[in-house]
Amino acid sequence: MRKRTKLKKEVIVLCTLIIILVVGVLLYFVIFKVGKVKVMLSSNLTTEIHEDVNVMSFVQDVKHGEIISQDEKIDTSTLGEKEIHLKIKNEQGNEEDYTFKVQVVDTTKPVITSGDSLTVLVGTDIELLKDVMVTDNSGEEIDVKVNGEYDINQVGDYALQYVAEDSSQNETIQDFTLHIIERPNEREEIPEDYTFTTSKGFKGEVKNGITYIDGIIVVNKTYPIPSSYGNGLLEETKQAFQEMNSDALPLGLNLYISSGYRSYSLQEDLYSGYVLRDGKEAADTYSARAGHSEHQTGLAFDLNSISDEFTNTPEGKWVHENAWRYGLILRYPYGKDDITGYKHESWHLRYVGKELAEKLYNNGDWITLEEYFGIDSKYE
Ligand code: DAL
Ligand code: ZN
Repeated sequence: MRKRTKLKKEVIVLCTLIIILVVGVLLYFVIFKVGKVKVMLSSNLTTEIHEDVNVMSFVQDVKHGEIISQDEKIDTSTLGEKEIHLKIKNEQGNEEDYTFKVQVVDTTKPVITSGDSLTVLVGTDIELLKDVMVTDNSGEEIDVKVNGEYDINQVGDYALQYVAEDSSQNETIQDFTLHIIERPNEREEIPEDYTFTTSKGFKGEVKNGITYIDGIIVVNKTYPIPSSYGNGLLEETKQAFQEMNSDALPLGLNLYISSGYRSYSLQEDLYSGYVLRDGKEAADTYSARAGHSEHQTGLAFDLNSISDEFTNTPEGKWVHENAWRYGLILRYPYGKDDITGYKHESWHLRYVGKELAEKLYNNGDWITLEEYFGIDSKYE
């Protein structure tokens, strides 16, 4: 009997202890855990360098409290770990500090701006990085390297690559082709001096390879000029432009020379570039081969944009009607492609002197040098 009473007592004590333990655990959860501030952050705590990003963009939710600190921008100007501090008011009305870390990283590749091909004449110096630009979100200066091999003394097309890498090992590789081309018109033959008469009865004279018709230098597809000829715009050309410009300025017209004298080798580079871009047949309709450009005479120049847009600008229209007053002619008028050998160029003027310029102006219906003298403009 005594034994049973003792056993009953022990069971009661045990049950009481279990109840105390359960209540204690429940109280603990109610007081400390359930009410504890919980900050839910984004799963990805990284941001790109220089990105405009706020602290709150990483906070998804706050349980059992509210953020009372001001939202602010994260300093993303440098790479690395940034410590973020939040002030939170918990459910008991107390302030708590909360800290988390954001990594500022650079995963963006540099951007290479360049053409997809480069053309050089065989045996010449080249600057492969001449027209290459690199930008990177880090703002750092980035060197560009060239991958691949080529032989500047060997004509051919070489597949090369520009390579740019930033300090976070983000690498951009861009393919380009290096065209090493032959020098056109390599062997030049200067003819013996001779004279001739044009189909319109003008006297032609070839002296040291330079053609004069009625005393005027003529350069077109038929009549070349020696490669060594010329060294700048001639005084009479410059004066004619200045005279024209000083009359144009008060009318609010802005004329400027965009391309004046061009040496044989510059023309060679230009023409070769156009051939590669558009093919020889197309290039021949708007660009002279080296030794056939009037620009080499120092008597011709191109105005303003050197493009068809110039034709209908106030400047283009005025030049069409007035260039002759200064001894300048519109050398490649509209609709005379088959006669001059070139498409209309509203921007290309040639000095011939006032007397001839007025005749060729022909009251606005421009005549070409080829028509006036009775000569051709055709490659052999
Ligand atoms: N554009 C003219 C024809 C030249 O190249 O001289
Ligand atoms: Zn021109």
